[in-house]
This record gives sequence, structure tokens and C-alpha cells, in this order.
Amino acid sequence: MSDAPVSTPAPKPGILTIAPYVGGKSKIEGVSEPIKLSSNENPLGCSEQARKAYFDAVERLHIYPEGRASKLREAVADKFGLEPDRLIFGNGSDEIFALLNQCFLEPGDVMVTGQYGFLAYRISAKANQAEILYAPEPELRVDVDAILDLVDERTKIVYISNPSNPTGSWNSGEEIRRLHAGLPERVLLVIDEAYAEYVTEPDWETALPLAREATNLVVTRTFSKIHGLAGLRIGFGYAPRDVADAVDRIRLPFNNSIPAQEAGVAALSDDAHQQRSRELVREWRPRLTQAIRGMGFEVYPSAGNFVLVRFPDEARSARDADAFLHSRGLIVRPVGGYGLTDCLRITVGTPEQNAVLLDALQAFADQ
Ligand SMILES: Cc1ncc(COP(=O)(O)O)c(C=O)c1O
Repeated sequence: MSDAPVSTPAPKPGILTIAPYVGGKSKIEGVSEPIKLSSNENPLGCSEQARKAYFDAVERLHIYPEGRASKLREAVADKFGLEPDRLIFGNGSDEIFALLNQCFLEPGDVMVTGQYGFLAYRISAKANQAEILYAPEPELRVDVDAILDLVDERTKIVYISNPSNPTGSWNSGEEIRRLHAGLPERVLLVIDEAYAEYVTEPDWETALPLAREATNLVVTRTFSKIHGLAGLRIGFGYAPRDVADAVDRIRLPFNNSIPAQEAGVAALSDDAHQQRSRELVREWRPRLTQAIRGMGFEVYPSAGNFVLVRFPDEARSARDADAFLHSRGLIVRPVGGYGLTDCLRITVGTPEQNAVLLDALQAFADQ
């Protein structure tokens, strides 16, 4: 036997400092059907047409998908009026962030995002040994000047979501144009519009038209929210051709499955399902906001399919509220991972789910 020291394979520096992403809980011990309002999913499920397309795809499970997702590509390009060759498809938009980070970040480069920027941007940035700088969001919304203040020659990518998760805040079209105009052209700006379809605020604008003319702007969208296809993992990005081309060289060859591509195409054409999903949020987001404020808790203005609720009273803390809701079969999302330890994020559910939630929160408030 050799006396040589045992050495095991070591991950790259920094990997083991990454906190694994923890998704919203989906189970409560002893409760067969909890009400899950923790992951901003679509409580109406997906389009019937998408389900049918998914089932029909079962006949083709033994063959590889078409690598460029051409049918889905054409459908997305058609729907949004975009050039098909500027689209990037990912296994969820999360994969697009990972691919962009892998393409553009080297060790020592800097990625800038907001203080409450979505966690997924950070994980792959760290995996590429980049440094992450967080711009303060004192009002729980992205502050364009605070982001621009952090940008220097080391900055390679800037990420924001609009609307933002977990805060629900949004930035106006004017703010987005100012952010883009303030960045050097060599810095890639990624605007994550996962919740775009739920926005009703008149000053919000999609950044897709701005991206059309830009050489350093990527806009991402997802099928996980309005289309109710979170389980199938489909997201896309609209990018400058050079960026799309770079990503295409490193993505896995078949990163969207056949059932996902087929269901995605069907979902896109089901306007009635999208309309119902939007209407549910348009009706219930203000109702939840008003009702929860009426109970004495703070609710931040939201443009997404969720609300962020603050429990300022230590005697009735977010942790207590979470435990109480749990005991009533409701799962919501603690957001301590973002430093918002006194808040819970609650997805807009069906009218029945929302009624159960409001009853439970009222009982908690009355304790
Ligand atoms: C801001 C934001 N971007 C992206 C995603 C993830 O999207 P996908 O399911 O397409 O990976 C989420 C999911 O919660 C999100 O909140």
C-alpha cells in the first residue's frame, strides 16, 4: 500500500461556496393535497391543447428531438414578430442564464444585478468564477443608477428581471432605456421578462423592440408561468445574432425535448388559456393585496402573478405566518435567501385557493 496522501477530485474554486437553489416546497406531512402557492406556477394548469400535444408526442419518445427546436422557433418568431435566427431556446430560461454566463464570464469578471435579483443568475455566474456585485434596492425595486454606479471595466453582464421576483416590482420603459443607454456596448444586458404577461402597469414596456436594434441586449421569456408548463422546462431568449450564435455552439445538442417543443407550440396558439390566466391575476392580485393590507400586513405593489407580504411585527413574524399557513395546508414561499427574512411571497391561486389563503391569514392576524 502506498503512503501517498489520499486526494479526491476537487471541484473548481468557488463551486462549494454556492448555496444550492431551493425550489418552493410542494409537500406537507400528512396533507394529501396542500395548496401550493410557493413557486409562481399557473394554478389553472396548462392549455388543453398543450396537454394533447404532449400526449401525442408519446409516439416519438424513441427519437431525438430536432436540435434547433425549429417548429417552436418559428412559432415564437411568428407570435412575437422576431427573427427566428436570433432566438435561443433553453431547458427553462434558467438554462439560458447559465449558457450566457458560460459564454461571457471568465474568472475574475464581474456580473452586476440588483440586491434582490433572481437567485438563478448568481449560481452559474459563481460556477464560472465570476464576482457578483449587488446594486442596492432600498425601495425593493431595481435602481438603474445604483446598477450603473457598479459598472466598470471588469463588468461583463448585467441582469435584471422586469417584473422582478421576489419583490414583484417593475421598471418603466424609460428606466430600461436609460439603463441600456448607460452601459458600455461591450457589457451584455439581460432583461428577464418571465412575468411579462401579467403586467398591467401602463409605464411598463417589453424590451423586445429595444433588443431588436441593440448589439448587447438579451430579453428572456418563459413557458413556465402564463403557459403553465413549468414541468416541461422551456424558455427562450431574443439576442443579437452574435450572442445567439455563441450560445448555439455550447448548448447541449438536444436541450428541449420533443414533448416540450410540441406542447410549447400548442400553448402559444391557445390565446383563450393565456387570457384566462391573465384575467385571474388581474382580478386577484389587487384583491389579495387589499385584503392582506386590511389585516395589518404590508403588501408591496406587484406586477407579477404573486405578492410579497411583509410581517413587520416580531410577535407575528413571517416565520410564524409560514408555520401557521402550513398547519392549514398552505405552502407559500419564505424569501430569507434574498435577505427578506420578514417577508413571504405568495402566488395568486384559483379563487378557491385564494379564499382559503385569506381565511387562514385572517385567523393568523386575529391570534
Ligand atoms: C424572474 C424569474 N426568471 C426566471 C424564472 C425561471 O424560469 P424557467 O422556469 O423558465 O427556468 C423564474 C421562476 O420562478 C423567475 O421568477
